[in-house]
Amino acid sequence: MIDVSTGALVPHAKIPVQTGYQVPFAAKIREEAGIATGAVGMITDAEYANQVITRGCADLVFIGRELLRDPYWSIRARATWMMNRTGLCLTVMQLNNRDGGNN
Ligand SMILES: Cc1cc2nc3c(=O)[nH]c(=O)nc-3n(C[C@H](O)[C@H](O)[C@H](O)COP(=O)(O)O)c2cc1C
Repeated sequence: MIDVSTGALVPHAKIPVQTGYQVPFAAKIREEAGIATGAVGMITDAEYANQVITRGCADLVFIGRELLRDPYWSIRARATWMMNRTGLCLTVMQLNNRDGGNN
């Protein structure tokens, strides 16, 4: 399994730093080397992260700084996911109650 981060070691390289900018590298290694890859880099949206995996660009997504900024990211992402997919607003209420309503 390869965690595909591009290093940024070449000073003259113009890197378009934006959501998913390193995903194509994870996809290329995965496809051409046949090795499982993890995609990284400014991935902060759960729907986008899911698409990276379901479209076969990578086998998993690593989320770094966003989880430092928001340790409840995965709980919020799950709640949003459930609401978008099923309209289960109750899920958010249940999660808020479980966490003492501090979210
Ligand atoms: C301060 C900092 C320095 C980093 N340095 C490097 C580096 O030298 N080479 C590299 O390939 N990735 C580097 N990374 C990327 C991390 O290894 C990791 O892939 C990334 O933080 C995950 O993406 P995310 O934090 O945007 O979710 C660095 C990240 C941060 C926050």
